[in-house]
Amino acid sequence: MSSDEQIPGLEIAPDLLDLDVDEFRRLGYWVVDRTIEHLTTLDDRPAITTSSFDQLSDALGGPLPLTGEDLSEGLSLLADVALENQQHGDHARYFARVPGPSSHVAILGDWLASGMQGVASSWGGGSGTATVEVIALNWLRDALGLNPQSQGVLVSGGSLASTTALITARAERGSGILYLSDQTHSSIKRGALGIGWDAADIRILPTDSAFLLSPAAARSAIEHDVREGRRPAVLVGTAGTTNTGAVDDLAALAALCREYGIWFHVDGAYGGPAALAPGRNGISGLECADSFVLDPHKWLFQPYDAACVWVAHPNALERTFAMYPEYLADTQGGEVDLHNRSLELTRRSRGVKLWLTLRTYGMNVLVDAVQRGIALAEYAQQCVESDDRIHTVTPARLGVVTFASNTADAAMHSAAVAEVTAGGFAAATSTVLHGKTVIRLCTINPHTTTEDISRTIALLADALHG
Ligand SMILES: Cc1ncc(COP(=O)(O)O)c(C=O)c1O
Repeated sequence: MSSDEQIPGLEIAPDLLDLDVDEFRRLGYWVVDRTIEHLTTLDDRPAITTSSFDQLSDALGGPLPLTGEDLSEGLSLLADVALENQQHGDHARYFARVPGPSSHVAILGDWLASGMQGVASSWGGGSGTATVEVIALNWLRDALGLNPQSQGVLVSGGSLASTTALITARAERGSGILYLSDQTHSSIKRGALGIGWDAADIRILPTDSAFLLSPAAARSAIEHDVREGRRPAVLVGTAGTTNTGAVDDLAALAALCREYGIWFHVDGAYGGPAALAPGRNGISGLECADSFVLDPHKWLFQPYDAACVWVAHPNALERTFAMYPEYLADTQGGEVDLHNRSLELTRRSRGVKLWLTLRTYGMNVLVDAVQRGIALAEYAQQCVESDDRIHTVTPARLGVVTFASNTADAAMHSAAVAEVTAGGFAAATSTVLHGKTVIRLCTINPHTTTEDISRTIALLADALHG
């Protein structure tokens, strides 16, 4: 038998990537302390920080190190420069796009899963991690009132979740016409095109004055296609649109889909958590969805990334995605092989943080946190209505409110948002609703105070009116 030193390469020490254990522990505690310092001081700093590529490269770039550089310094550079220069979706006055107010418990779960290389691919390769994922998905499925037969999987975000549903729908029912509305999130059209859906088979139906997909408009588009000899395949309803928080009439759309044998997909990536409340916040009909998506990294207080997709037809995900290559044969045969429910084979265990969050806080506390975000948008609407320079365009709906100036033009709205965001106090978004440029606030961070809201609206109204 050769000793290690006799085979070229084996003189390399096996522990060459290891830190000294005491140093590893010390820097691990530093990471914890630095994260907590970040979280406890974040609201005193800008909601979004951006620098130029040149400035950032000066701090972070240079030639590829061959011999390695100091770890403490690298960690500080990441915390102070790379991770500082971003939109802080967890900032109390980050009202832009969709915030990501992650919670302390979920962060701990994510750290643990990363540190212990959590993987949830096959049963043989991760029965514990698969079990927490399935339990978390089933807890949410039942609390949402989805079809109890629904099976799910966690993927990286709403985009991939809806694309996973579209792939499944097409595999189960065949191809045909896909019906979206002008308020459907752009990721769904992108996903459809990405999986080879013919652009000519995608209908973008205009929404009504409340930004809803009207079942009557959907019916006439479907009947038109049927008359022309085409096959309606999938219709997408939204539970909480990104622009206005509007919730389509899901029960009526589901009935229409049933009548024509159409797969009914519901995108609740943003608004889905509102349906966890006992009063359901105006979201009904989820039990009729063939597939449903909800993003815990938006409004269930998770660090990026985590999105749920459920399909109501038992084993449809496996029928669509399962592959049984010879090199994975030894890992199969248990309760569930999650790699057979989406396009991902190696998958981080997103279920660990989600399970810990649901178990630790309990549904009642999470529902309260969601409800607070809904109430904050209602308060924001009151602030808008008490300022006679601005008016509400769409009322507070699932944590989203939009408003506009009585006098300023579209460019002035975009400029006001840019000015306030650059000032650092708060970040907002402009958007366009049926051709009209408006300012939009998304208020789902439970840390946000009423003063945060009133000062932000006053700043925006001042910026709009010079
Ligand atoms: C309603 C809706 N659907 C889908 C998405 C896409 O989700 P993700 O960014 O996680 O891919 C978003 C993102 O904001 C959304 O608001």
